[in-house]
Amino acid sequence: MAQQEDVFKKIVSHAKEYGFVFPSSEIYDGLSAVYDYGQNGVELKNNIKRYWWDAMTLLHENIVGIDSAIFMHPTIWKASGHVDAFNDPLIDNRDSKKRYRADVLIEDQMAKYDEKIAKEVAKAAKRFGEAFDEAQFRATNGRVLDLQARRDALHERFSKAMNDNDLGELRQIIVDEEIVCPISGTKNWTEVRQFNLMFKTEMGSTADGAMTVYLRPETAQGIFVNYLNVQKTGRMRIPFGIAQIGKAFRNEIVARQFIFRMREFEQMEMQFFVRPGEELKWFAQWKEWRLKWHKALGMGDEKYRYHDHDKLAHYANAATDIEFQMPFGFKEVEGIHSRTNFDLSQHQKFSGKKIEYFDPELNQSYTPYVIETSIGVDRMFLSVLCSAYDEEQLPNGETRTVLHLPAPLAPVKCAVLPLVRKDGLPEKAREIVDELKFDFATHYEEKDAIGKRYRRQDAIGTPFCITVDHQTLEDNTVTLRERDSMEQTRVSVDDLHKLIHDRVSLASLLRKLR
Ligand code: GAP
Repeated sequence: MAQQEDVFKKIVSHAKEYGFVFPSSEIYDGLSAVYDYGQNGVELKNNIKRYWWDAMTLLHENIVGIDSAIFMHPTIWKASGHVDAFNDPLIDNRDSKKRYRADVLIEDQMAKYDEKIAKEVAKAAKRFGEAFDEAQFRATNGRVLDLQARRDALHERFSKAMNDNDLGELRQIIVDEEIVCPISGTKNWTEVRQFNLMFKTEMGSTADGAMTVYLRPETAQGIFVNYLNVQKTGRMRIPFGIAQIGKAFRNEIVARQFIFRMREFEQMEMQFFVRPGEELKWFAQWKEWRLKWHKALGMGDEKYRYHDHDKLAHYANAATDIEFQMPFGFKEVEGIHSRTNFDLSQHQKFSGKKIEYFDPELNQSYTPYVIETSIGVDRMFLSVLCSAYDEEQLPNGETRTVLHLPAPLAPVKCAVLPLVRKDGLPEKAREIVDELKFDFATHYEEKDAIGKRYRRQDAIGTPFCITVDHQTLEDNTVTLRERDSMEQTRVSVDDLHKLIHDRVSLASLLRKLR
């Protein structure tokens, strides 16, 4: 675990050093849980968004996109339940004066039990070697059984307290489990209180006439309130979906793990409107499609898992998360929810406007049910970065830091490098750049020895380096170096476009989703 934490620290500093992610307002010592994307980060982020957008809107004839405003009428948040219930349970430690999410403290405690069990299993595996039967060990070892029983009991108690919204019980669990503040090391806890996560601001010029508005905590409501507009103007027939990418804001109590939990972040959400009674069929379908989208990136199927929710929101009748194996454990990257007709019904009630759909096949009107897929762009970015980061030991004893990014997501697709800065090589290299730059993000680099330039491109995950040397001037060939294998092949300049395109095009990724 400590080793994984070290790797994570390295990834965070690599992200800064190579222009992917900077702490916001850094020259003013930063702003907690807010980050800026640098020159390479913004390209990677845009490519992730494009992959999602195209997978939704190009591959599904019945999904269209919108871009709704961040500010919305405040009654929307009353109708959606966010004003009353978008809360986290918080607790303070009186000695360190630090504030924590009570549920996170308890979840961390459960993770500690898991870690202890994993350690016992690893120790036994080492002791027994080939003959080790993990399932049998877990089912019979006294210490493992005891830890598992304590973990299960805690999980059950915790789920019930969260379901019942029982803040006193949450505090009691923290006391009974003897959870201490990581800073002060004490158990001097306050009561648990609810804390609303929405940011408020005022709209309007005079103090008297100003109206309290919220920065949206999710993009989904912008889709719900535009449901009728899109359905009517697009003449959409159920089932159909509306997709949106945009900023969301949450005043998170505990902001940690870099861009995993931010106060300003971006979501890619799609609401799929279906006939009542068909929602669970569509829920299962979207669960499958979304996992396929993730796996097509080739980052390793074993790094994903579903986490079906025990605790369902009052409006949902099924929910699952797609979790990704980050260096700090399996974590939610995407949520898929069957939200019934809750949101549309609420907006119908609060706005007084009829939001129904006339189904010509059934010859009846109803409020559609909704399957939502909701993924955080920043979390997706983090999963890609963590999976790509590698410190590779080379046969010559050197180490190279390389980002094995999925080629279609890489910020730079190819770098053109003249071997030396003379003899007409820079001019020839520029000629090649001028051909490739219309289709691919292309870098030109002439400074430093060629090996150093390769390393710089490896560090930002550039799939191809094209080296122009004296032979190029004679026979119009270059060396094409592939990032992951470091293999160099001599190819004709005329073939470059096709060779690069085959590997880096988004279409190659989208085709895997068919
Ligand atoms: N409309 C449903 C919704 O917003 P959510 O589970 O609260 O559901 C969906 O959020 C996704 O948004 C999460 O799976 C996560 O990827 C991302 N997300 C949520 N809060 C975040 C935060 N504070 N920082 C970064 N990403 C966040």
